[in-house]
Amino acid sequence: MKNFILFGPPGAGKGTQAKTISKTYGLVHLSTGDMLREAKDDPMFAPYMSAGKLVPDNVIVEMVVKRLKKPDCSEGFLLDGFPRTLSQAQELDKFLTKENKKVSAVFCILTENEEIVKRLSGRRVCPACGGSFNIDSMPPKKEGICDLCGANLIQRKDDNPDTIRERLSVYDKQTKVLIDYYEKQGILAKIDGMLTPEKVFEQISDYVKKM
Ligand code: AP5
Repeated sequence: MKNFILFGPPGAGKGTQAKTISKTYGLVHLSTGDMLREAKDDPMFAPYMSAGKLVPDNVIVEMVVKRLKKPDCSEGFLLDGFPRTLSQAQELDKFLTKENKKVSAVFCILTENEEIVKRLSGRRVCPACGGSFNIDSMPPKKEGICDLCGANLIQRKDDNPDTIRERLSVYDKQTKVLIDYYEKQGILAKIDGMLTPEKVFEQISDYVKKM
């Protein structure tokens, strides 16, 4: 069974890779960012997200555990954006142990801050179907219009320079520590995120072949 985690700073390319990984290996893609955004402007989450801060651990753990209990996760899952703190990682391990499961691999996408700021500033998303584009690296065929469904593309509220800086700082202070946590478990795969999306996926699939 493949239980994967996609890990890395904001804008590293987790969501981009998640689409290919989940399709290639038939895994349910669980993005905590998407789950929170689907809750729209829920007063419980929105203030944290728009400020670039993390939603409290207990809220997010409960949401993920509830989702992981659903039958479609029994054949494997791909977590994207979770865990993000040591406490989240420990709670995930506790839950998986109870279920007689474990994390098979953590793909840590390493991307430089300057590139991240460029990618996030250029990201455009589709509010209707969730499509994601980039004005520099992955432009839509028609400017401002989603290739997939024709809706107008928007910029995510947290993709502005101040919030991007805050998200990067939160990653450094609260999330980066997990590299060590998973490295000690021998399940961390360091992936060069500075390459094209295709080359990034190649590194992930090479690792999976060797597992
Ligand atoms: P979340 O939605 O998870 O955001 P994030 O981690 O900041 O990651 P992003 O979605 O911004 O980036 P990504 O790595 O997926 O990059 P993408 O593939 O889109 O979280 C948002 C907020 O929700 C958090 O700030 C927090 O408030 C809350 N939250 C979520 N999870 C939480 C948790 N566990 N605990 C507490 N709070 C939580 O790529 C970015 C751009 O670059 C795109 O335009 C893409 O086209 C382009 N791109 C991608 N790959 C490449 C490449 N290789 N080359 C060139 N361009 C590329």
